[in-house]
Amino acid sequence: MAQLWGGRFTKETDRLVYNFNASIGFDQKFYKEDIRGSIAHVTMLAKEGILTGEEKDTIIKALNEILEDVESGKLVITDEYEDIHSFVEANLIERTKDIGKKLHTGRSRNDQVALDMKLYVREQIKETDGLLKDLLEVILAIMREHKATVMPGFTHLQKAQPVTLAHHMGAYFEMLKRDRSRLWDIYDRMNYCPLGSGALAGTTYPLDREYTAALLDFYGPTLNSMDSVSDRDYIIELLSAFSTIMMHLSRFSEEMIIWNSNEYQFIDIDDAYSTGSSIMPQKKNPDIAELVRGKTGRVYGALIAILTTMKGLPLAYNKDMQEDKELTFDAIDTVKGCILLFTGMLSTLKFNKEAMRTSAQKGFTNATDAADYLVNKGVPFRDAHGIIGRLVLYCIEKKTALEDLSLAEYKAISPAFEEDIYEAISMDACVNKRLTTGAPGMEAMETVINIQEDYLKKSLHFRNK
Ligand code: ARG
Repeated sequence: MAQLWGGRFTKETDRLVYNFNASIGFDQKFYKEDIRGSIAHVTMLAKEGILTGEEKDTIIKALNEILEDVESGKLVITDEYEDIHSFVEANLIERTKDIGKKLHTGRSRNDQVALDMKLYVREQIKETDGLLKDLLEVILAIMREHKATVMPGFTHLQKAQPVTLAHHMGAYFEMLKRDRSRLWDIYDRMNYCPLGSGALAGTTYPLDREYTAALLDFYGPTLNSMDSVSDRDYIIELLSAFSTIMMHLSRFSEEMIIWNSNEYQFIDIDDAYSTGSSIMPQKKNPDIAELVRGKTGRVYGALIAILTTMKGLPLAYNKDMQEDKELTFDAIDTVKGCILLFTGMLSTLKFNKEAMRTSAQKGFTNATDAADYLVNKGVPFRDAHGIIGRLVLYCIEKKTALEDLSLAEYKAISPAFEEDIYEAISMDACVNKRLTTGAPGMEAMETVINIQEDYLKKSLHFRNK
């Protein structure tokens, strides 16, 4: 049991208490961040004359060696230490003796852990953003290729009006684009450095917080030391943004599952992204999409957990806050994994254009256009709606489609119909007449695709950060 704080105690910590309290099992994840933060701290201490240049060099050299040894596997992080901070400091002292004991001057584990977590989360935001960008590239490629792939658009999961696959995919493009901008917002709001806040009340040493903030690529130091050590807002925001990402991926997954079903056959998920059944030889299951949908619950759970943990905590640091780690790490791994797997699945699945078009044709998705046709011939819309409704009923009874009725059948219900009705309700015409911004018509779609292409080229939010 290696602890940093034995002085005041007359008894050993109970083993169960030690284990319950320890965080090394999970906070070892940010050993790199912990060392990076310590190097910045020591650099600043020397600049301020609190440490000599020689002491600083000795400490930094040893810290870099610890980092190397951990990465190479020569030094193993074990649960002999209470947390990652104790592990690094103990190893430093072992290597540099009394000099290493000066590292923690003007610092508390409270500002240290706040810093480590921010450094870690900041990097993970960038990585998640990159993965989302890759997924958007895949979606955009599908959009470019399928501007003329007609499919039914749905409301209430009932066929509604014809759209295109490009248009349907474009909806997810927008969702994930918003997800990225939420991540950027969170990054910009959280990117202030808590180091130098001490336990809660700052410190009596003349620390240069602006300097350490700059060394660690923060926009600047945080402005209230109590808030600095007890702020977990950015984690709540991140888990909220993550929950929204998962909600989007879950909806997308649900559609892929439905489209992949025998009833729809709109898509064929690649063998590499499907699994079989141990008993039913014919089965090819969309497990990846189902898992993404399922793991959404886990990420929502993390959000609710941290919100509940933080509720009612008095200022400033409380040990409750240690609970932020495991659930955040789990959510990060889950979200990144889901985006990656979903991207792989989407980029390898095959779209069955014929099945999509046939489905659109079979579902009276052109009924609105047939009504609009009558309106253009001078029939008031409400009457046109009634006429087409009766025609649909007639078709259902005859088991046929609107475009397969004879002109005589049309005229029997309204003399306003002419030969040009067939062209007016063809699937391609229905789609391509829809040219308002954001609509599926080919030209409207092309404009949007160009905008999205441009967005992907320019959206390098983190380039200089
Ligand atoms: N493991 C702790 C955490 O994650 C580090 C901070 C410890 N501070 C303290 N006062 N015990 O929150």
